[in-house]
Amino acid sequence: MPSVPEELNVYRRPHSLMVKLVNDIERELSATDFCDAQSYLQLLGHLSTNFHVFQTHEEIENRYIVGELMPRLPCNHKAKLENDLHSDNRLSTLVNLVSEGLQMGWCSEEARVDFGERLKTAIASFTVDFLPHMREEEEVFLPLLVQYFSEPELKKLTRDVIELHHLN
Ligand code: FEO
Repeated sequence: MPSVPEELNVYRRPHSLMVKLVNDIERELSATDFCDAQSYLQLLGHLSTNFHVFQTHEEIENRYIVGELMPRLPCNHKAKLENDLHSDNRLSTLVNLVSEGLQMGWCSEEARVDFGERLKTAIASFTVDFLPHMREEEEVFLPLLVQYFSEPELKKLTRDVIELHHLN
């Protein structure tokens, strides 16, 4: 499909933010010394904040984008897309894992290093799915939004979504 103008692209700015967060998380994760309790706790604090941003992003999409789009779609299209809705399982797993790490607090160095390995595996697993997931939203949902919303409606939705992400 031809490129969608920025003012009609509900995903462009929120997804740029998500990609930046993924890169920030990967950078901080690889720089963290899990032997050092302070560094470990600092990482977990940042992850907790960042995963909350991801959760908010998914909630905004479910409510304001998919929630507004679905009632406009013909039944055959709807059924096909219902499988693509956010299940959020990986994100919830990560949030729970970070909480567990924070509760461990000033635990032994060995426990922190073990936890770091679990965290790296869980984050890698999330990232490997999340980046294609965003691409799919842009390739599947965005053309449908363009098709089933008027231009003023889509402009307003884009503005609202950007505002809900505090990207103004
Ligand atoms: Fe835009 Fe569902 O992540």
